[in-house]
Amino acid sequence: MLPPVDDLALTGPTLRVRIPRAEDAAALYAEASDPEVTRWFSWGPYAALDEAHAYLARLAAQRERGEHLDLVIEHLDAGLIGISGLSEFAARDRRATIGTWLGRAWWGTGANQEAKALVCHLAFRLLGLERVGAYSNVEHVRSQRALERIGFQREGVLRRFHRHDGRALDVVIFGLLRAEWEAGPLAAVAVQVSGQPPPAFVVGG
Ligand SMILES: CC(C)(COP(=O)(O)OP(=O)(O)OC[C@H]1O[C@@H](n2cnc3c(N)ncnc32)[C@H](O)[C@@H]1OP(=O)(O)O)[C@@H](O)C(=O)NCCC(=O)NCCS
Repeated sequence: MLPPVDDLALTGPTLRVRIPRAEDAAALYAEASDPEVTRWFSWGPYAALDEAHAYLARLAAQRERGEHLDLVIEHLDAGLIGISGLSEFAARDRRATIGTWLGRAWWGTGANQEAKALVCHLAFRLLGLERVGAYSNVEHVRSQRALERIGFQREGVLRRFHRHDGRALDVVIFGLLRAEWEAGPLAAVAVQVSGQPPPAFVVGG
């Protein structure tokens, strides 16, 4: 049998999310070398183009193992603007965790909502998940407001959950259930799908 083709793309009114390619390194580096963008992450800011190449080189094996499904977010006119992806897949429990970063110029533009709409369409409609979770540092107010305004429910605080700069930090856990997604603003976004999701992530009918 032929190996699966990594050709998944989901397109909305202004954005597309698709499988990353090696050629994305320069644009990724340009956006993620900004310390404001990576402030809340355990990685970055990128100090060299090689770091973007190394990140991209890891993704195919992570997809094959069903561990991590990161997608490039590209604006239909402007090109690459960030990354959004699903991690912590639990096939038995039909859930995963979503994470997103956008280049600084794209904050507050609605790109977060559209990118989340595309990835949640993938999660609920194509993969068959029943729950998408999200984490945010307790002090990362912008991210929490952004999640709430698109329908994610604040569920509680996970204490000393994330290590960053040698410190154990508390994070807020958010969740979006299938029925909430269907009734909320994300499912109202028109999405066109091309290609197939990587088979390791398809858990439900
Ligand atoms: C997190 C991220 C994807 C959110 O996207 P965004 O486009 O900035 O978010 P939105 O504009 O949709 O929503 C931000 C909300 O927070 C508000 N906000 C912005 N800065 C704020 C602050 N310092 N304090 C309180 N609220 C703030 C905005 O006014 C908006 O509120 P509204 O819903 O009342 O209008 C984006 O900021 C980003 O990529 N950040 C860097 C990476 C990152 O931290 N990712 C998340 C890790 S958990």
